[in-house]
Amino acid sequence: MKYNITVQEQEWAQQIWEKLEKKLSAQNERLGSRMPYIPVNGRYEDMGEEHLTWWTNSFWSGILWQAYHATGKQCYAENAAATEERLDRALEEYTGLDHDIGFLWLHTAVADYRLTGNERSKLRGVRAASVLASRFQPAGNYIRAWNHGEDSVAIIDCLMNLPILYWASEVTGDSAWKKLAMAHADTALREILRPDGSSNHIVAFDRESGEVTKKPGGQGYGEGSSWTRGQAWAIYGMALSYRHTGKQEYLDASKRTAHYFLANAALTDYDVVIDFRAPAEPVYYDNTAAACAACGLLELSEHVPELEKPLYVKSAVKLLQRLTERFCNWMTEEDGITTKGSARYDRASDREVPIIYGDYFLAEGILRLLGKDFLIW
Ligand code: GLY
Repeated sequence: MKYNITVQEQEWAQQIWEKLEKKLSAQNERLGSRMPYIPVNGRYEDMGEEHLTWWTNSFWSGILWQAYHATGKQCYAENAAATEERLDRALEEYTGLDHDIGFLWLHTAVADYRLTGNERSKLRGVRAASVLASRFQPAGNYIRAWNHGEDSVAIIDCLMNLPILYWASEVTGDSAWKKLAMAHADTALREILRPDGSSNHIVAFDRESGEVTKKPGGQGYGEGSSWTRGQAWAIYGMALSYRHTGKQEYLDASKRTAHYFLANAALTDYDVVIDFRAPAEPVYYDNTAAACAACGLLELSEHVPELEKPLYVKSAVKLLQRLTERFCNWMTEEDGITTKGSARYDRASDREVPIIYGDYFLAEGILRLLGKDFLIW
């Protein structure tokens, strides 16, 4: 076992995986190479038709590759490979791509290459990493997040895109991509994370000088608040940068953000709200943050000494147990498993709904506990 969990916890994780696989199998038959986001009337539509470069379009593929790795069933790999091919047009057209290239191609081409050795997938992954590298801003040392808006901004989420740069350096033997990733991670440490272990969502830079101009609110409650998915990106993203570089400051930052997350989540019995610094009422949940934080905690636990591990592993189990006890929809005829996920605080239409990345992190977390996952990041 990868993590030291009790027999009861193993049995619970196994039961959840069985339910998950039943549902994934039903969804796989319905979905083909569709790119799901949020179900409408219990069924996923195809976000790829409307918006091919939307940042969540590969999470279903990531789930399928995890399921393929865990079960060896070819039907999962087939639909994941079809999603990867659909994305080729996005790379060819180039416009519309932003920093979420990491999410898009780590869960498709890079996963495919890692599991099957497909050379065409490797090429796709290296091309995608090159486009991401081209967004690096030497004035300010950061990867520019989005294309819209007057400001040039970096966001905490981007830590999860960096692994495609680490991977590209690994498979090509050229350290350039890794250096850019580390330059961005260093800027995130200095300008996006806060000393108390919380994180800003967005930092804006002057395009010419690279000076920080402001730190506005983002998808959380507001300026200076503590958007929980951003906190989860910080825990997981910093742990991953540590895995790929061995730089101690990244591990320390992951621990700091984990401690902040857990202290706050304990106040609501580990049911995770959208923002730790929002008013007490109304209560809005974001279970995508809970699932992502759990995976980040498990990743973190792999890099700390033995006596430190239980804090992170037990907390991850706790988060996933709360989530699966209270917030999962196991009905195979409806799409979407993790309910009450929230894209952002201020928009009712995608608040407290099932969102595909919640399911990805739930599946990754459960498979990690069973020692059946593979590292997609
Ligand atoms: N990366 C965008 C989000 O977390 O909503």
